[in-house]
Amino acid sequence: MLRIKNLVKVYPGPVTALQGVDLDLEAGMFGLLGPNGAGKSTFMRILAGLLEPTSGAVMLDGEDILAKPERVRARLGYLPQEFGFYPHLSGEQMLIHLLRLKGVEAPRGLKALAGELLERVNLSFAAKRKVKSYSGGMRQRLGIAQAVAGNPRLLIVDEPTAGLDPEERLRFYHLLAELAGNRIVLLSTHIVEDVAVLCPQFAVIRGGRLVAKTTPRAARAAIEGAIFEGTVSPVELPELRQSGSVTQAILVEGRHRVRVFAPDGSPPLGFERVTPTLEDAYLVLMRSGLAGLGGDDPGRGVVVAPGAPGDTAGGGAEPVHLVGVRS
Ligand SMILES: Nc1ncnc2c1ncn2[C@@H]1O[C@H](COP(=O)(O)OP(=O)(O)O)[C@@H](O)[C@H]1O
Ligand SMILES: [Mg+2]
Repeated sequence: MLRIKNLVKVYPGPVTALQGVDLDLEAGMFGLLGPNGAGKSTFMRILAGLLEPTSGAVMLDGEDILAKPERVRARLGYLPQEFGFYPHLSGEQMLIHLLRLKGVEAPRGLKALAGELLERVNLSFAAKRKVKSYSGGMRQRLGIAQAVAGNPRLLIVDEPTAGLDPEERLRFYHLLAELAGNRIVLLSTHIVEDVAVLCPQFAVIRGGRLVAKTTPRAARAAIEGAIFEGTVSPVELPELRQSGSVTQAILVEGRHRVRVFAPDGSPPLGFERVTPTLEDAYLVLMRSGLAGLGGDDPGRGVVVAPGAPGDTAGGGAEPVHLVGVRS
């Protein structure tokens, strides 16, 4: 189990990138969803033992990561957001180099281990090809190969799908799901689909704070009945946006197909109630609209600290943990 307590990071400037993050993670895939600048990479670099926090604690299976980063590093795999490659090395050479740096044990030699890892990420066919000829998806798979070397207990992947085309993304989803197994996988992203496809649990991070820890199902259930869809003209859209309730607007044949969050059940004229998507839930959370839901019907949008007793959502849904949701 990974236990994170009151993690704070202040960069020189000063820029407060993390403002006291608490999070407990069990085995399985966990999504950290948030926009650019939310603090995702900062959080993950601290967990990977590469960046010292200003204060706070990180325990992996009871062991203090921050006190003994070198001991924990052996049980940890990390794919950074910006992964540096030597373009003139082959995939195999690059991987062997990374395995050597990582200090992974290889009883049968590094070449044999690299071969196995390339096989696991479906890159054997390109082992001898130069990394500079790899596609974005192939590079990410090579990055994953070094991250899972040594069979780490904790796998940290920072925005691994950014920049991949839809087909590569799908392949990468399958690979990650396969590798998740019995370990803790922490995946950061700004793409809601990543969470919808891969993560039974996720947290939303904004401005260095977790604003929610929940499941996709519970997040959707919390706004059930409150999302409406309709069509407006380009002149009407700005006004609607001003109300702060728009969760999505797609241009279709010159008019805007718009989804709005109306917790009081009174959407604009002509709008119809629709089934909420995770995208709706994310945008509502980012705008902290669930605080309003909680007031309307305390059983639905429960605003509680994580792990507080009795924090179950109504209607038999899973618990919704919404921490510090304020406007
Ligand atoms: N080395 C740094 N020095 C100063 N500020 C930084 C540094 N790295 C990140 N930041 C700032 O910290 C905040 C969080 O950044 P980051 O963790 O990279 O967010 P994310 O990965 O979610 O985009 C941003 O405001 C960013 O500008
Ligand atoms: Mg980042």
